[in-house]
Amino acid sequence: VVSSGVEVTMPAVPPLPRHVAIIMDGNGRWAAERGLPRAEGHRRGAEAVRRVVRAARELGLPALTLYAFSAQNWGRPRGEVAHLMRLLAAFVADERAELLARGIRLVTIGDLGSLPRFVRAPLAALEVASAGNRAMTLCLALSYGAREALTAAARALATEAAAGRLRPGDVTEQALAARLGTGALPPLDLLIRTSGEQRLSNFLLWEAAYAELCFTPVLWPDFDRATFEAALASYAGRERRFGLLADPRVAGARG
Ligand code: FPP
Repeated sequence: VVSSGVEVTMPAVPPLPRHVAIIMDGNGRWAAERGLPRAEGHRRGAEAVRRVVRAARELGLPALTLYAFSAQNWGRPRGEVAHLMRLLAAFVADERAELLARGIRLVTIGDLGSLPRFVRAPLAALEVASAGNRAMTLCLALSYGAREALTAAARALATEAAAGRLRPGDVTEQALAARLGTGALPPLDLLIRTSGEQRLSNFLLWEAAYAELCFTPVLWPDFDRATFEAALASYAGRERRFGLLADPRVAGARG
């Protein structure tokens, strides 16, 4: 709906997920299809990131996690890694004011220590500056791998046990979840992957246990508000059972 040049946000179909995570895939194929260098695909991918963050905030999503750089992505050619790092730094520099103005809290998961200083320092500063924001949480997964995160959480528990601060009985689901970095985020309701691939690629393996999965053929640089809203509408139409039965009355009738 456009009135006097200002786009009016239409409410997405309820129920809205509390936490959406996205595997942003297909930048390279988007570029290849156009005879462009992969770097151009990533640059357009970064523009899609800006769009989706803005859309999420306008739609009222409480939390959005983006798989921006995996622990495995370090194995890509040096020039491509360097380009992705520059895009990340540019994202933080360019979006800082708007994220703060819109009440968005920025958090990160992954091995931040492995990022170059010119990315790590402004990211850490924005995490601190935005810590009190409550309108939405944007979580960037950087040098992230779910197996790595689970291993680190297990190691943290073992360290506490060895120091005598934890008994084996204290190692509960809650205790492990609290050490994953996503512990302070709402439960993951919806996981989207673009580009037609149907796998999790070491992303949020624990958190996705009961998430609804949505796979779209759209390549990440083409991901727009309409694609996002279609995924949210698909989520809204799902029946979530969490291992239980659909309807207690039906369950009773069946014994
Ligand atoms: C997958 O495309 C995408 C990535 C490996 C990185 C995601 C990065 C961005 C979207 C841009 C920078 C991020 C931010 C937050 C500014 P691919 O290269 O694997 O595509 P392909 O499978 O088609 O080759």
